[in-house]
Amino acid sequence: EKGGYKHYMAKEIAQQPTVVGNVLNAYLSGDQINMDLGGINFANVDRLSIVACGTAYYAGLVAKYWFEQHARLPVDIDVASEFRYREAPFAPKTLGVFVSQSGETADTLAALRYSAGKVDKVVSLVNVPESSIARESDVAVEIHAGVEVSVASTKAFTCQLTSFAVMALKAAHDRGHLDDAGLAQRLSELRQLPGLMSHALTIDAATKAIASKLAEARDVLFLGRGQMFPLALEGALKLKEISYIHAEGYASGELKHGPIALVDKATPTVVMAPHDGLFDKTVSNMQEVMARGGRVVLVSDARAAEEAGSGVWQTLAMPEAPELIQPILYAVPAQLLAYHTAIAKGTDVDQPRNLAKSVTVE
Ligand code: F6R
Repeated sequence: EKGGYKHYMAKEIAQQPTVVGNVLNAYLSGDQINMDLGGINFANVDRLSIVACGTAYYAGLVAKYWFEQHARLPVDIDVASEFRYREAPFAPKTLGVFVSQSGETADTLAALRYSAGKVDKVVSLVNVPESSIARESDVAVEIHAGVEVSVASTKAFTCQLTSFAVMALKAAHDRGHLDDAGLAQRLSELRQLPGLMSHALTIDAATKAIASKLAEARDVLFLGRGQMFPLALEGALKLKEISYIHAEGYASGELKHGPIALVDKATPTVVMAPHDGLFDKTVSNMQEVMARGGRVVLVSDARAAEEAGSGVWQTLAMPEAPELIQPILYAVPAQLLAYHTAIAKGTDVDQPRNLAKSVTVE
């Protein structure tokens, strides 16, 4: 069942190049997108309302950056348990988008039911096509991750992200912000994902070495900026779920507004920062941490590691990648750091205490 792996989580992390490739095979054909959204044309949509819980929520948060940047489409995003009770007004021409691996999460299902009739259409991203959330949606987009057994979500996250990336590019094209040539270019970037993910998985041994040090920490901070901010949140969630180490994810720029008070020698800060247009700002955030004796684990590519200069405690070298796919790729180090830290601590990786795979109570 575990196919030679010690845990389902390890197997599911390793499957990602394949399952992400399956998403691309399902939804791309040549230079075009072939995703059945029941006739939705994003030119007629004014707003998305994305709702989900946990890791699925973080996938939605990355999608917000993509839809807004590439398709100029405003996105509201909420955790399901808050969404239902905050009585937000629904703007006309809003699509409700519900993200759930299991398709059975009670809060997400309740939010879907609350939205039905108030939004133009109910769209879901699900891994289980016969689930309640899929059945109650106008359009259910399958994320093609295959069965996910480990309680901590890994491959479902990257398949949610890949499906969202395709959808955001369709929206950009529908709304006239991407012409045919531009779309073809973006799709060729997406097609680099399986290969680059396989490459990213080769950091496994390096991650293990860093994890043995993280295992000694009581608290760990994760930082990311822009579309990498949700990856900082996901890295922190994965770590606390399976290693029981307290971890917090922050937007890099928020550091000096409070969390920097936590920085000391014993509190490592993991910085998820590929070389992008904002990298110099991230470097100054890292310097703020290091100036206070904080230890920085920089997860980045070779170019950025060079620019970051000296003083970084540990570096995890990721392959260089087109900006669009960076958040998908950086899920791999987030997962591997948590996995190896949990192994070092001897916790139950696949069945962490107090957690269930599918949360069917509100
Ligand atoms: C994190 C994790 C949870 C789920 C959340 C939503 O590793 O597994 O945070 O992501 O409970 O579950 P689904 O996607 O089934 O609605």
